[in-house]
Amino acid sequence: MNRLKLAILISGRGSNMEALLKAAEDPAFPAMPKLVLSNRPEAKGLETAASAGIPTLAIDHKLYGKDREAFERELDKALTDAGIEIIALAGFMRVLTPWFVSRWEGRMINIHPSLLPKYKGLDTHQRAIDAGDAEAGCTVHWVSAGVDEGEIIAQAAIPILPGDTADSLAARLLPEEHRLYPRALAIACARLRP
Ligand code: GRF
Repeated sequence: MNRLKLAILISGRGSNMEALLKAAEDPAFPAMPKLVLSNRPEAKGLETAASAGIPTLAIDHKLYGKDREAFERELDKALTDAGIEIIALAGFMRVLTPWFVSRWEGRMINIHPSLLPKYKGLDTHQRAIDAGDAEAGCTVHWVSAGVDEGEIIAQAAIPILPGDTADSLAARLLPEEHRLYPRALAIACARLRP
């Protein structure tokens, strides 16, 4: 099978990245990890990826100051040089400019810890608790110019329990994220290469 060349972009822990790498160990999985890239050189996920034998790269956004596009041109070059065909953002904590998004639109997906369109942005779990919601969840979506606004690929929900805190909810949701992301990535790949 001709598998799509996948880059995973991270900023930290990389547990969703790890879930994607695990899923891709199956030769029938439609994407093949070729590069794990972080904007933070100290991201723990870089070590995890390297020990799984995946090429890694850190492009430190701080070196580019306020020039977001200069950082993104480096990112774009690394992705292009590696022949990347699909990008999965997995805890990648940089807002991307319209320039970068338009370069990769239709080939880039993200996981967000809320039931979009609710709670775009940060502090999603606390906001869901404060609103008295019965459910929280996670969403995998195509990345478009508006932050957390792209078309939804798949979602998973869990109940919010009495006494839940943002931390307890995040911890209970994480295994759902790890189940959802590989499934959603496979759906995205099928859209790119039916
Ligand atoms: C996850 O909760 C993900 O939904 C959000 O950032 C967190 C990243 O965690 N976008 P990890 O780095 O994948 O462990």
